Amino acid sequence: MPIHLPPLSRRSFFKRSALVGAGLSLAPELFAVMHRKEANSWALLADPHIAADPARVQRGINMTEHFKTVSQELLTLSRRPAGVFVVGDCAFNQGEPGDYEALSGLLEPLRGGGLPLHLALGNHDQRENFWKALEANQAAKRPVADRQVALIRSPLVNWFMLDSLETTLQTPGLLGPAQLDWLAKALDANPEKPAVIVVHHNPGMAVNISGLKDTEALFKVIRPRSQVKAYCFGHTHHWNVTADESGIHLVNLPPVAYVFRAEDPAGWVQATARADGMKLELRCVDATHNNHAQVVDLKWRPA
Ligand SMILES: [Fe+2]
Repeated sequence: MPIHLPPLSRRSFFKRSALVGAGLSLAPELFAVMHRKEANSWALLADPHIAADPARVQRGINMTEHFKTVSQELLTLSRRPAGVFVVGDCAFNQGEPGDYEALSGLLEPLRGGGLPLHLALGNHDQRENFWKALEANQAAKRPVADRQVALIRSPLVNWFMLDSLETTLQTPGLLGPAQLDWLAKALDANPEKPAVIVVHHNPGMAVNISGLKDTEALFKVIRPRSQVKAYCFGHTHHWNVTADESGIHLVNLPPVAYVFRAEDPAGWVQATARADGMKLELRCVDATHNNHAQVVDLKWRPA
């Protein structure tokens, strides 16, 4: 089953918060404010690397604190996004049950704030532990057995979330023929609306590949299907937006957690769709970062 965590009612949020010790301490007044939802706005998060121990620090940052900073910003937006994607590497390093318990607690305030969550897997996740910790909350059947795959519809974009976790702790990823076959059929069944692919691993054709091993097979599926406009991914912990030769935008999301290059931003991206494209706004954990609030405007390739 894909993991989609639905919003919680105010009552059930406070009941559950008392049980789990609440991942965030939020003023009740926050819930008194009726935040309007923006149906075409989405929060794109990648690589939170949540550890069981909330005090854990990696590469000089505390992953739990970074996630809380992002959560607070999401919850205080005047117009909340229609949903939140967490694009893999949800867990700290090898997808331990305690990591997902901690993540589950940290997600509760977002759910309490009315935000639907869509979670993908990365190479630092462990699929069975992830499902065990989080799947009690949702009911949809998996379209591809044993993979975390989903189609999420919205007014202006269909989001296709794929699962590129091949082996935990091995850096490259793989979609595999069954998932690619599902993607091709799902795209063919939904040709009209712009489609955005969401997957943890970056595309890569290099010999010593650290990204998606079956990049070529994926692009054979998505290039000729002109409704595919963008491919959003994490994995590299490096914010960057480019395009492939066919005009598919390649959106490398920043990590919520640590960066590998000191000058890179950590944070998330607010994506706002319109009929002919999508506006991306980088939101840095450190609001004094040079790239904070950077806007990249994507224009869709022709249909
Ligand atoms: Fe990562």
